[in-house]
Amino acid sequence: MNTTPESNTTVKLLQVNASSRYEDSVTRALSARFIDALRNRLEDLQVRERDVAVGLPFVDAEWVGANFTPAGQRSEQQRRALTHSDTLVQELVETDILLIAAPVYNFSIPASLKAWIDQVARAGLTFRYTENGPEGLLSGKKAYVLLASGGTPIGSDIDFASGYLRHVLGFLGIDDITLIGAERLMQQAGEAVDSAEQQIQQAVAGLNMAA
Ligand SMILES: Cc1cc2nc3c(=O)[nH]c(=O)nc-3n(C[C@H](O)[C@H](O)[C@H](O)COP(=O)(O)O)c2cc1C
Repeated sequence: MNTTPESNTTVKLLQVNASSRYEDSVTRALSARFIDALRNRLEDLQVRERDVAVGLPFVDAEWVGANFTPAGQRSEQQRRALTHSDTLVQELVETDILLIAAPVYNFSIPASLKAWIDQVARAGLTFRYTENGPEGLLSGKKAYVLLASGGTPIGSDIDFASGYLRHVLGFLGIDDITLIGAERLMQQAGEAVDSAEQQIQQAVAGLNMAA
């Protein structure tokens, strides 16, 4: 891999970490490796971390009511109900690269990551309804989805994490998605991590910010 920084324009990366574990988390470690590798490619990489495992609010009746009220007609209370969501949306809108690192929990994504998705999927901000159906508004971004599993093969029929993430990111307009998997760690921990590290090096080497 060419380790010479190739671009001096600022590139923003939003790192979404979802593992409930802090020590010994495979996804958190691989996510950090990804960023280290990327720093060798991009001179001015600005990283913002959003750790969803600390807990995000779920959408509740007040949130839904506020979200369905046109922005200009929201009460002060409704505006407050959307404040956190607004912040999360802004972080996503502003980023060039989205890096999601998540374990497979019960064949899908952690509830904390689903809570983040529920907070950032906002009609009028991240997608919109058209006469041809919904249209994502976050085009032009690259996403890297880094998944770890204990026994579930990534991409298999019982993996409801990777397909869902691909779909929902595409729904928001993010369709340039690279999946990196450390799969079946209980059966093959060493190989899985080695493979994921290789996938990271390949993904970073293949990154073309101009594309
Ligand atoms: C609550 C929970 C549910 C899990 N469910 C699954 C599962 O359905 N399939 C699977 O392959 N691994 C499952 N695992 C294993 C994790 O995906 C695996 O340990 C992964 O490495 C966790 O990511 P981390 O190392 O970043 O914490 C589960 C782990 C936990 C804690």
